[in-house]
Amino acid sequence: MGVVWLMWFDHSSNSGRLLLMLLAVIGVGIAVWRRCGDKGCGAALVRGWWHRRLWRENAGPLGLAGPDGQAGRVVSVVGDEWGTTSTYRLWPGQGPAAFEARAVELAHAMGVLTARVSSPGPGLVMVRYLTGDPLGAVSLRPWPLMSVARWQLGDAVPSGVGEDGRVVTVALWSSSVLLAGSPGSGKSATMWLLVLAAMLDPSVRLMAVDLKGGVELGLVASRAERLATTLDDAVAVIDDALVEVSGRYGVLRERGLRKVESGDPSMPPLVVVIDELAELTGTGSKESKAAGESLRRLVATGRAAGVTVIAATQKPSSDVVPTGLRDLFATRIGLRCGMRGQAETIAPEIAGELTKIPASQPGTAYVVDEGGSWQRFRAWYLTDDMVRQVASAAEAARS
Ligand SMILES: Nc1ncnc2c1ncn2[C@@H]1O[C@H](COP(=O)(O)OP(=O)(O)OP(=O)(O)O)[C@@H](O)[C@H]1O
Ligand SMILES: [Mg+2]
Repeated sequence: MGVVWLMWFDHSSNSGRLLLMLLAVIGVGIAVWRRCGDKGCGAALVRGWWHRRLWRENAGPLGLAGPDGQAGRVVSVVGDEWGTTSTYRLWPGQGPAAFEARAVELAHAMGVLTARVSSPGPGLVMVRYLTGDPLGAVSLRPWPLMSVARWQLGDAVPSGVGEDGRVVTVALWSSSVLLAGSPGSGKSATMWLLVLAAMLDPSVRLMAVDLKGGVELGLVASRAERLATTLDDAVAVIDDALVEVSGRYGVLRERGLRKVESGDPSMPPLVVVIDELAELTGTGSKESKAAGESLRRLVATGRAAGVTVIAATQKPSSDVVPTGLRDLFATRIGLRCGMRGQAETIAPEIAGELTKIPASQPGTAYVVDEGGSWQRFRAWYLTDDMVRQVASAAEAARS
């Protein structure tokens, strides 16, 4: 073979040699591409090269370059069906906030729909470049608690799927949750996931307030020890929960404890669910104002006493959820808001994002945890039949 090659090298014309070399390069290229085609590394190479090139061209004009206009080092470029996730090393003195401030321009420069910025660790910034909306389609994966026989409130509730395809969970143990969004944004449907998870824990005591005449939460009637459908009843439920809290504080003092431990059978978790908070705290009446103040006390003091409040409102205005009340909720879930002002009330940090959620995507939401970071996700949706099915499994778990 080597002899043939040498003979050819000596005698063939220059153009023939070039053609043959070109064919060899193409052949090797195709072989490499096919060999790693399953793993997508051919596409990954092209994606990585193209991305780095765009990044080098745009970092300077976007004001994201370092000294001498140098673009930050690209640590990784990973593609998936919805776009590309790139991690960059930050320059000294640079923070993810600089990228966040230019996210819109960055998306345009990189030729994508949206750019979402986060920081995976010190000195690094991660940008998720989305060419489509991964949350546009309802998750076909079944809700993980759909077929479990029981659940423990101490475990966070799988509530939806994030843009990276990972399950987003919401903690309920001693952690109150506020859901807010325009009518039809998916508050009740998302709230049902949390309520059903609570119901699947046989030790949970449940109280419900549904001032839409009980139409939404009627299904919990057999499981809940209280279901209030009028303002007076609702005030009584919250007052009773407050009495329970002060009793528990007495026990804690006697035992020299600071908070109820998860799994303590003498003080089981108490979950108070309120659908349509505006009907309770936002009517402007004297009773409504008093109810708002009682609720504030319940959320503030309930935490250490094993009490969780799950409240939803379609009117997240300051009269319904004053800042003093809003900030007591450890978890806030912001769904689509038609008006900027309402989005500001629930989540000033990402108000603009809440107004951008399309009406065609109910259940799309942002959740903030105690760490203060917001995550976009699409909640699982259960049909009424599915809700009934889990509710009967919850009944069975108690018998
Ligand atoms: N996660 C979801 N995925 C797909 N569709 C959903 C989802 N959540 C809700 N929906 C659809 O949106 C409709 C309205 O949802 P839901 O009743 O939860 O809204 P809401 O915000 O509670 O409305 P309201 O303020 O009127 O009480 C549901 O009937 C369902 O068709
Ligand atoms: Mg509702």
